[in-house]
Amino acid sequence: MSAVTIGTPLSPHATRAMLLGSGELGKEVAIELQRLGVEVIAVDRYADAPAMQVAHRSQVVDMTDPEALRAVLQREQPQLIVPEVEAIATEVLSEFEGQARVVPTARATQLTMDREGIRRLAAEELGLPTSDYRFADSLEELRAGVTAVGMPCVVKPVMSSSGKGQSVIRTEADIEVAWAYARSGGRVDRARVIVEAFVPFDFEITLLTVRHAGGVTFCDPVGHLQIDGDYRESWQPAAMGADVLAQAQQVAEAITGALGGWGLFGVELFIVGDRVVFSEVSPRPHDTGMVTLVSQDLSEFALHARAILGLPVPQPLRLAGDGEAAASVAVVVDGTGVPVFSGVEAALSVPTSQLRLFGKPRVEGHRRVAVALARGADVDGARERARQVAAALTVTLA
Ligand SMILES: Nc1ncnc2c1ncn2[C@@H]1O[C@H](COP(=O)(O)OP(=O)(O)OP(=O)(O)O)[C@@H](O)[C@H]1O
Ligand SMILES: [Mg+2]
Repeated sequence: MSAVTIGTPLSPHATRAMLLGSGELGKEVAIELQRLGVEVIAVDRYADAPAMQVAHRSQVVDMTDPEALRAVLQREQPQLIVPEVEAIATEVLSEFEGQARVVPTARATQLTMDREGIRRLAAEELGLPTSDYRFADSLEELRAGVTAVGMPCVVKPVMSSSGKGQSVIRTEADIEVAWAYARSGGRVDRARVIVEAFVPFDFEITLLTVRHAGGVTFCDPVGHLQIDGDYRESWQPAAMGADVLAQAQQVAEAITGALGGWGLFGVELFIVGDRVVFSEVSPRPHDTGMVTLVSQDLSEFALHARAILGLPVPQPLRLAGDGEAAASVAVVVDGTGVPVFSGVEAALSVPTSQLRLFGKPRVEGHRRVAVALARGADVDGARERARQVAAALTVTLA
């Protein structure tokens, strides 16, 4: 097979892409790749995952198992390897880099799967502003870390996402609880945690940043609201001054440039007064960026597809509804069973509303099963509508 490295445009009709992770974000990426004629193979560790429902073919594989991941890549020989989740045996991806294009690069997937890798790159190598932080492998080290960064502070397993295992320490007594909680919430059986000084931010944004053949393109900043480290609402454009936005773009350009490759990145930033603090980055479409499904002519998924193929990426145009703001509300459930939706008709009677019902075959625990989307005259109006859409929808677990 010919080499498929960065800098090589791919002919979409001759391209086979393998999605590693087949959730709701991967589903939208699969659709956008297919619109350009790409053959899509969806992989996840369970059958009938959302992206599998729209892919050409699918494979059920434990992607954290290096042998299993290597075997499926060898069998399918994709030209594009498109990770959708962090929980992948990323060391295997570098073996395939060169014969395939790993999105955005194998090194980027490795650095971002672990909070330690990305934090050390951002703060220690690039000198970007971050919260003060320490790593800890034991309760004693955590105590020392808390003393060093001060209270309040946030403790997270180095390998986790969606707020799993994350908690805030406000008093001495919280330390032991936070340690136990972080150990139970980590993705892998590794005790290491990061403790970060709590950033008293005014608001937080995701700066969707596209690195592509023609350079770097930024979307309008996406504002968002998180509860227990999990995204609940997002909106675009987040109001911010030109100077702060310029700073945010500089930080985003620095971190995505250091990770390299082509693709869309979700750069998470805290805004404190007129200062920008780097938090973390996803080298792939971001959950808060689902708002772009209704806010822009090219969604974050369409931009990602174009970028990774080496195709032109224009500045996306903001869609006008009866206004130029848009919002999303995540629909989450708790429990076990097959999600069943009612109230769809009422939800879709809200002006400008759209829904994505992800099609998760079954859920266990706290899971996102749909997203409610709407536009409005301004951010408040769009958020109000998106909340109405979400409120009209009822999810039961059968
Ligand atoms: N140091 C901090 N100071 C203040 N708030 C924080 C800090 N770290 C995290 N948070 C809050 O918790 C949220 C989730 O944190 P973070 O993004 O690090 O975790 P995550 O598990 O990777 O979440 P996700 O996968 O949803 O992005 C942040 O968006 C922010 O609202
Ligand atoms: Mg985050």
